[in-house]
Amino acid sequence: MALLYKSDPVRGARWKALFAQHAPDIEFRQWPDIGDPKEIRYLLAWQPPENIMDSLPSLEVLFATSAGVDQFDFDALPPELPVVRMLDPAIESGMIEYATFATLWLHRRMGDYVRQQREGQWQAHMLVPAAQRRIGVLGLGQLGSTIASHFAGYGFAVSGWARSSRQVQDVACYHGEAELDEFLSSSDILICVLPLTDATRGILNSDLFARLPEGAALINIGRGEHLVDHDLTQALDDGHLSAAVLDVLSEEPPADDHPFWQDERILLTPHVAAMTQPDSAFPVLLDNLRRHQRGEPMIGRVDPQRGY
Ligand code: GLV
Repeated sequence: MALLYKSDPVRGARWKALFAQHAPDIEFRQWPDIGDPKEIRYLLAWQPPENIMDSLPSLEVLFATSAGVDQFDFDALPPELPVVRMLDPAIESGMIEYATFATLWLHRRMGDYVRQQREGQWQAHMLVPAAQRRIGVLGLGQLGSTIASHFAGYGFAVSGWARSSRQVQDVACYHGEAELDEFLSSSDILICVLPLTDATRGILNSDLFARLPEGAALINIGRGEHLVDHDLTQALDDGHLSAAVLDVLSEEPPADDHPFWQDERILLTPHVAAMTQPDSAFPVLLDNLRRHQRGEPMIGRVDPQRGY
């Protein structure tokens, strides 16, 4: 029985060593050396191969190496093939770290101070107490709710929004279209952690920005396709939004002439908020493999209908 790994080859070497040491009954193969495809029961992938079921006829489970699974075309997958997303604790801590960094960067106006330093300008801006800074977390799944409660612990005024009703301690939770307006109007810093689906593609657009308070800022650590790039530039030009921190873009890397490269109001990072770490992800994956072998439910199963 074999597991095929198709993702970053550097981390692949570590995955291979972990399998050899802790699960020698599962043969670890690394794309493109797939050997006899009929022996492959499990696929661990960031991007799946084309025509996955033709090339891997014995496939029983598709494990994503990522928390998001929007890169998979569910219409091209057999409905009965279980898809499992990655619930590596390192992804969670990476997202918390990055969201904290980006929020404090905006909250403490670091973009302005970096610019002022370059211009030789020594000028203090009034501090806004954390309790007066309203943080809005768009998406209250596993990652969103963890991030939201983390910020509540910092003393920020935190709210969150999800499609369906959620409860997170010390977080004002809103849900559904009907409560989106109220949530947005009380988000000085909006953090997008939504999964990418047909319902959320392009959600960060002019219409949504207009519902944020004057001077609000945006952090996108969801997916690039959540954002309509041009609408962000427009909202910054209009002065309605003040700044943005973007870790994801619809095209990664963006074209050389993409306006975000040169936009001082935007801090851009190359999709590094969180990364799956084989050492912490392996026990999670192995637990699921054993669950599958025992016929028990796996943790992190994706609902193909919802797409997350
Ligand atoms: C990274 O973007 C992930 O989804 O894990």
